[in-house]
Amino acid sequence: MTDIKTKIDSNNLPQHVAIIMDGNGRWAKKKNKLRIFGHQKGVKTVKEIVKASIEIGIKYLTIYAFSKENWQRPKTEIEGLMSLLISAIDGELGELHENNVKINTIGDFLSLPDYVQKKISYAIEKTKNNTGLNLIIALSYGSRHEITEMTKNLVKEVLAGKIKSEDINQEIIQQHLMTAAFPDPELLIRTSGEYRISNFLLWQIAYTELYFTDKLWPEFGREDFFKAIIDFQERERRFGKISEQINNE
Ligand code: IPE
Ligand code: IPE
Ligand code: MG
Repeated sequence: MTDIKTKIDSNNLPQHVAIIMDGNGRWAKKKNKLRIFGHQKGVKTVKEIVKASIEIGIKYLTIYAFSKENWQRPKTEIEGLMSLLISAIDGELGELHENNVKINTIGDFLSLPDYVQKKISYAIEKTKNNTGLNLIIALSYGSRHEITEMTKNLVKEVLAGKIKSEDINQEIIQQHLMTAAFPDPELLIRTSGEYRISNFLLWQIAYTELYFTDKLWPEFGREDFFKAIIDFQERERRFGKISEQINNE
């Protein structure tokens, strides 16, 4: 069997792929296991997709690991997720670093427990000079929260006389978001058959191609990821123009 990878056009790769990793709980339920078992298996999928991203040369991979709204889940599940995050970093940081992966986060960092903040700061610091894949972990992330914070910061800068209100434009807004250092994703994948965005990167996905799959995150793999990339490559991105204009460019 030929590797599906051979169907990927390396000249038309998205540089930034974002993923809403959903369906861990339902996967566990199907197996008559506790939800945390699904999250554990989900970490394995993350490993596989990070590897696959490196393999084809994706530059930025943003993964939605924990939303602002997820704080409303039962305390035991939240604690389970936090300790899973710690053990995933402990277990994988060495290899990620060897593979030149640079770890970044977006989200409400200060809302995370102290020990999680420390562990993440350590991972970011250790990998800060790496030049390979940028792995951006969205943690305690909510897009409306991000936009609210951006607005507050902009207002402060205007009041301090650093920028004039009439100079505010889309670029300045972009530079004040938590994703300031990253390009917008060209492709957003959501697993588990849900067709919603769940407060993820609302500003940034204005022109992103959306890809939904019924596969639950723990059963999503390298091949599925490559299938999504191939699907992306078959689309025509028009950005408001008409097809003929795109073809003449
Ligand atoms: C996604 O899986 C992981 C997180 C949100 C942390 P879920 O935990 O949402 O799984 P389902 O959607 O209940 O199946
Ligand atoms: C979105 O999944 C958040 C993450 C994947 C971390 P949820 O499972 O929390 O989304 P909703 O609540 O079903 O929209
Ligand atoms: Mg879910």
